[in-house]
Amino acid sequence: MYILAPSLLAADFTILGEQIKETQECGAEYLHIDVMDGVFVPSISFGMPLISSIRGASRQFFDVHLMIVDPIRYIKEFAECGADGITFHLEAVENVNAVIDKIHEYHLKAGISIKPGTPVEAVYPYLSKVEMILIMSVEPGFGGQVFMEEAYGRISRLREYVDTNYPDVKIEVDGGIGKKNVREVIRAGADICVAGSAVFKKRSISENISHFMEAFHECDRK
Ligand code: DX5
Ligand code: ZN
Repeated sequence: MYILAPSLLAADFTILGEQIKETQECGAEYLHIDVMDGVFVPSISFGMPLISSIRGASRQFFDVHLMIVDPIRYIKEFAECGADGITFHLEAVENVNAVIDKIHEYHLKAGISIKPGTPVEAVYPYLSKVEMILIMSVEPGFGGQVFMEEAYGRISRLREYVDTNYPDVKIEVDGGIGKKNVREVIRAGADICVAGSAVFKKRSISENISHFMEAFHECDRK
């Protein structure tokens, strides 16, 4: 069972509520919410007020991806505005365990994300404590970038290690995923695929999502 997590960053904000509902109706179980602070990454995206305002429009799992420095300062606020899971960057914190504990204190799922240059082995010490690892397949900061092929090896290495040692930990992959490469991403070992441009741009959301669902079903059967 694979999960699609549409990334809000690529949505049309003039009709945001409608677009979110459409992704839900088409079978996207997660909604991926990219929070950027202009410090950890160059861009600034959005924060708690937006998340609270869309919470009522969706029953999806709110998968909050924090691309911010010092994430521990904001866990409470993100919990209160409706996050179901919080993923922070390994590169952004010194005390990784403290952030994980804080996320769990609010009964949310905890995830650790790593940039393309960080070896996957860097998350191994925390696998017994987290629910998810997010492997970035682009440099974090912007939607619409090209998938970095090096990610395949990283995903499969982590898949193998997780399967042997921590089979409950989910693997999410984020950046440059579309109908052309989603099968390879899954075969490499992803459980959850984030997609922004490939869901919200070009054709209709339902048509775009149907390509992902088709790929998910196909890979399920194998
Ligand atoms: C990038 C974000 C991604 C991004 C994905 O920093 O973490 O979630 O929105 O967008 P696409 O699918 O367009 O690469
Ligand atoms: Zn993201």
